[in-house]
Amino acid sequence: MEEIKRIGVLTSGGDAPGMNAAIRAVTRAGIRNNLEVFGIRRGYQGMIDGDIFKLKSNSVSGIIQQGGTILQTARCKDFYTEEGRKKAYKQLKEHQIDAVIVIGGDGSFTGATIMSKEYDIPFVGIPGTIDNDLYGTDYTIGYDTALNTVVSAVDKIRDTASSHNRIFFVEVMGKEAGFVALRSGIASGAEGILIPEVKGQFDKLRQLLAERGNKNKSSIILVAEGDDEGRAIDIAAMTQKEFPQFDIRTTILGHVQRGGSPSAFDRVTASRLGVAAVEALLDDQKSIMVGLANNEVVHVPLNKTVKLHKDVNRELLELADFLI
Ligand code: F6P
Repeated sequence: MEEIKRIGVLTSGGDAPGMNAAIRAVTRAGIRNNLEVFGIRRGYQGMIDGDIFKLKSNSVSGIIQQGGTILQTARCKDFYTEEGRKKAYKQLKEHQIDAVIVIGGDGSFTGATIMSKEYDIPFVGIPGTIDNDLYGTDYTIGYDTALNTVVSAVDKIRDTASSHNRIFFVEVMGKEAGFVALRSGIASGAEGILIPEVKGQFDKLRQLLAERGNKNKSSIILVAEGDDEGRAIDIAAMTQKEFPQFDIRTTILGHVQRGGSPSAFDRVTASRLGVAAVEALLDDQKSIMVGLANNEVVHVPLNKTVKLHKDVNRELLELADFLI
């Protein structure tokens, strides 16, 4: 393998709090190891367009506490075409970039896996998504901050819910996974958690409401956006029809979950993984993701992170059920 002298870093897919901390760590670790570090704007789109610029140590000053991503991001359709990747490779060569660190989720890692098979460019992934749905890592950057955002919103909703004796269905993000709903549901003491990984939860909820008869009681039901029963608004409508005696409302937390200053945990994780990604490249590793398992940095083949399914923690599921 050629010696790595110049590396590129990009953020891709949905932004997540803590991505800036990862960019900072990659930049500083690269420079400390005598590499030149280049930022690629708007993910793979910037790679195709050659929107590439040099990062210095002070380019990443004062960003560790900022949400979003200073490199901006995109969901780039062109990168899924051979033509798009060819253009991207040409730009990397023109800018003499020897290796790329991709901060993102499964879509971003799929792109990196495909390109690394076609071209001799080492890719290392850093998991960055609020969804926490990547195989091979216990945590993805942004997940912890999103959980805290959800919990703080649900605490507020509970105040109004209990004042009116209302049932609230609160929809949270997570794509096809229930990691955000499960953990924030436990942390906010939700009376119900509906996630795609568990069947029959809606029937359980209906049974619980049926047992209430006419007795009003406030409740919070967390609904993962990917739940099999549908979106929170549809589930609320079905419930209202079956239980007209209850006063039901819906809140969709939406993109509020993606913003905000990263938690200390996300900042530290992003810093650890940023440094680990640079070290992995210097150690001749390619097509891997750096992740956290049992609080230790691990290397996982990039193709495994997208091919294999990560399950929710079954022990947490039991705990949630037990405490409701
Ligand atoms: O992957 C992060 C995420 O926020 C998902 O939870 C959500 O389904 C999706 O991105 C929303 O994407 P967009 O911001 O493109 O609407």
